[in-house]
Amino acid sequence: MTPLTPLTALPAWKALGEHFAQVRGLHLRDLFAADPGRAGRFSREAVGLFLDYSKHRITDETITLLVRLAEESGLRDRIDAMFRGEKINITENRAVLHTALRAPRDAVITVDGQNVVPEVHAVLDRMAAFSDRIRSGDWKGHTGQRIRNIVNIGIGGSDLGPVMAYEALRHYSERSLTFRFVSNVDGTDFAEATHDLNPAETLFIVSSKTFTTLETMTNAATARNWLLAQLTDPAAVARHFVAVSTNAQAVAAFGIDTANMFGFWDWVGGRYSMDSAIGLSTMLAVGPEGFRRMLAGFHEMDEHFRTAPFAENLPVIMGLLNIWYTNFFGSETVAVLPYDQYLKRFPAYLQQLTMESNGKRVTLDGRAVTYQTGAIFWGEPGTNGQHSFYQLIHQGTKLIPCDFLGFLHTLNPLSNHHDILMANLFAQTEALAFGKTTAEVQAEGTPDWLVPHREFDGNRPSSTLLADRLTPEVLGKLVALYEHSVFTQGVIWQVGSFDQWGVELGKKLAMRILPELTDSTGSLTHDSSTNALIQRYRQAR
Ligand code: F6P
Repeated sequence: MTPLTPLTALPAWKALGEHFAQVRGLHLRDLFAADPGRAGRFSREAVGLFLDYSKHRITDETITLLVRLAEESGLRDRIDAMFRGEKINITENRAVLHTALRAPRDAVITVDGQNVVPEVHAVLDRMAAFSDRIRSGDWKGHTGQRIRNIVNIGIGGSDLGPVMAYEALRHYSERSLTFRFVSNVDGTDFAEATHDLNPAETLFIVSSKTFTTLETMTNAATARNWLLAQLTDPAAVARHFVAVSTNAQAVAAFGIDTANMFGFWDWVGGRYSMDSAIGLSTMLAVGPEGFRRMLAGFHEMDEHFRTAPFAENLPVIMGLLNIWYTNFFGSETVAVLPYDQYLKRFPAYLQQLTMESNGKRVTLDGRAVTYQTGAIFWGEPGTNGQHSFYQLIHQGTKLIPCDFLGFLHTLNPLSNHHDILMANLFAQTEALAFGKTTAEVQAEGTPDWLVPHREFDGNRPSSTLLADRLTPEVLGKLVALYEHSVFTQGVIWQVGSFDQWGVELGKKLAMRILPELTDSTGSLTHDSSTNALIQRYRQAR
């Protein structure tokens, strides 16, 4: 490709460096005191999500320069290229069209001269018909019993999206069905997920884009053995296994009838696939209507991202703030703190989305970057995290920007639980930003020697994202918000956000070591550490 102007040579990047030197010492206490309108100026509402980013270490000038950086980075063209279906995943020569998965029926999006939208809706319609049959009990298992258990077997994007969405939308789920998710090749995962299930009532969804992933294929083979150990007749597989994949040949070779396969396309990245057929378990849980509502939420956020000016654009603002902390303050991580138990797997989901996408050290035109890329994302639901790792965020030596997520209404109104939950969310953002001064601690009668331990320096940045309540639409909007924030950051860092070559080496080495574990006579030619570890394992076998 034609060489890119290096990020560090862009005028806005240089201007941000100079601006940072001026504002790095500013304290949020002073910024708020000097400007009563700050909260209003640094907050935006779009498609039902409210983002307050006023508790960030920014001024108007910061936002102006960050937006300029997005413009100089060509973000507008790159957004258009993605939505148009251009092959922006250049290392794999693929389009990047997760946005087509939630496009309305009458949209036209072409890849290699073909409109992909009809295919997308044809698969959605087949998924819906299948879901209706399972949910109504019309689809029977091999022995004539109705299906009561759904086990999704998949890993990475073929697991994290489905399990996150199932947990997030559990309130809307069909409670007569039991859902389990098996991902780890550790046999414990399969054993514990199935130990109380009746094979005659169990449906396995083998979810794998490639249908070659070792963990998933191993678990799928174990599932087939588990089923046939009780049902004995190989014909039972057709009633108890369906596949979600882009690889029809491998699905057939595994023994699953391709009539029971739900396809998707190479232009859907694994970590962007939860609203493709990979979401079949989600649709089984919440029904076709619930699934379509989630897709509608994704689409609303897609349209916002595609059309809103950068300074009004929630994913762009969030992405730019991550650039500000990663590249200027030197922050290494972002904490995602959902104040909603249903979002307990959201941080884990975001880890793959953000870190597999932007954990890159080479630019699209093949140069080693000279700046930090992809922050480490992590988190836990509030208030649990408050009693665990928040101490370090408040008083540790690291600057950790936080994303607080909350809802104005709870789905489970039990006495005053929700008021307490939200009071904690608001209190944390306040404590992080403003801290507690020496004078305040002294005024409480604290002995001098204890004062340094009890004071909080504050100035710890956070965003607060609020929505009315957690619905399928809102979940779609939240996920799309982060997808597009990741895209924004990838464009600015000039990295390829849609490949994942770094995962390959470990997979290859594991395949080399696997036979060495079972053949105890073969000589080992690894380094001395790896050789000794393998020997120890061999001896214990
Ligand atoms: O971990 C690497 C990866 O390729 C992910 O990107 C992907 O989500 C996961 O493996 C699973 O791949 P598949 O769906 O092909 O089994």
